[in-house]
Amino acid sequence: SGPVKRTLESYYTTIEDFPAEGILFRDITSVLGDADGFKLAIDEMLKAIEGEAIDVIIGIEARGFMFAPVLAYELGKPFVPVRKAGKLPRETVSATCTLEYGEATIEMHADAFPPGSKVLIVDDLIATGGTAKATAQMVEELGGVVSSFLFVSELTYLNGRDLLEGYKVHSLVTF
Ligand code: PRP
Ligand code: MG
Repeated sequence: SGPVKRTLESYYTTIEDFPAEGILFRDITSVLGDADGFKLAIDEMLKAIEGEAIDVIIGIEARGFMFAPVLAYELGKPFVPVRKAGKLPRETVSATCTLEYGEATIEMHADAFPPGSKVLIVDDLIATGGTAKATAQMVEELGGVVSSFLFVSELTYLNGRDLLEGYKVHSLVTF
């Protein structure tokens, strides 16, 4: 018998009561902290979007930056960052995310891609879907078309997919 084939889920660690009492935190750093785990994550991400027409790959600060640039490199496509407000130096578009607790504003450069571009939106996690939805709004404001969303994991009990109704959504691990 060969080496035991581990699932991507098995590389996550779960921390109780972080960042607040009663929350089960699914820690992605232990996926990246294992060379086999990170390779499996990237391989499964590439497989999920196989055959999709993609012109540009967006990653959402901060944890989306751990994955989107690797995919951009592998696919030979440009990477575009979505950042928390106030970080990008040129003209931006912005959107407000409604999150589990409160609101946040995110931004993207206004010249990030030409109108008509097919855009893949990447993040480590979909929870409420608020961050992803706000990113799609910015993409569409710039005349881009969301080809799909790609998340490493999904907290299904928060129903983030409902907020992204009408879009194609890939997630690799469900919690
Ligand atoms: C987390 C996660 C996603 C977002 C998902 O990011 O990395 O980006 O929340 O939540 P939502 O679906 O409810 O919008 P967080 O804002 O904690 O920051 P980080 O990526 O900078 O750690
Ligand atoms: Mg994030």
